[in-house]
Amino acid sequence: MLAFAKNTVIEAGEVLKKYFNTPLAIKTKSTERDLVTQADIESEKYIISAIQRHYPDHAILAEEHGRIGDSEYLWLIDPIDGTTNFAHSHPMFCIVIALAHNDKIILTAIYDPLRNELFSVEKGKGAFLNDQVIKVSSSSTLSSSVLVTGFPYDRATNPKNNMKEFCKIMPLVQGIRRSGSAALDMCYVACGRLDGYWEYHLNPWDFAGGVLLVREAGGVVSNIDGSEWAMASNNVIAANKELHQEMFRALNDL
Ligand code: IPD
Ligand code: CA
Ligand code: CA
Repeated sequence: MLAFAKNTVIEAGEVLKKYFNTPLAIKTKSTERDLVTQADIESEKYIISAIQRHYPDHAILAEEHGRIGDSEYLWLIDPIDGTTNFAHSHPMFCIVIALAHNDKIILTAIYDPLRNELFSVEKGKGAFLNDQVIKVSSSSTLSSSVLVTGFPYDRATNPKNNMKEFCKIMPLVQGIRRSGSAALDMCYVACGRLDGYWEYHLNPWDFAGGVLLVREAGGVVSNIDGSEWAMASNNVIAANKELHQEMFRALNDL
């Protein structure tokens, strides 16, 4: 199943490369800044039909289609994580396929088609970037770290929009990035390119696969309030063990 997920994200990457940096049909979803393009739709259709051919009894939760079927196996699909970037020809986006069994993620493939970078993980078998083992960074303090975060689409009206937290953390760290792709944020923490990540108001297809990747890369993942992360969670702190503790304290005013 991991081989299938890896092949399928690479194939969906071909769909995205065909559309990237071309004039696109773009619609809005929950707010005027929550976009969906024809590339999201075509990538998702491609992945859904591949899953239905190979695993017709499995259920699917796809960002643009919603839930399909009922099974102890659930495929999560984000056909473009980083749609705003994609729609602006900004080269930072990926495709996510993750598989959960009884609400626990067991494998994930995340593919950045422009850099040809394939992140993959299977529970208990380590985390990989293009088949090389990856590990989280060892930066243990906020002052020696570069973090990454994001802001929800409804940030104009949602009081929990991460602005307060961003302003609090910014003076404490070497830098904070906002890549626009939650899945790549998790991948970059898993391979040590970034030291820690936090974000509120995510959906499972954005980051559930990345949770397994960071854990198998030796990192620690929890909800922002420190409680145990679960499939139903919509927020996260991910980092190495020491930095996770620092981030947890800072984000919770401890
Ligand atoms: C979004 C990205 C972004 C995060 C948003 C997500 P999308 O996913 O992952 O980094 O801040 O919360 O919704 O809409 O590009 O698939
Ligand atoms: Ca997403
Ligand atoms: Ca998406």
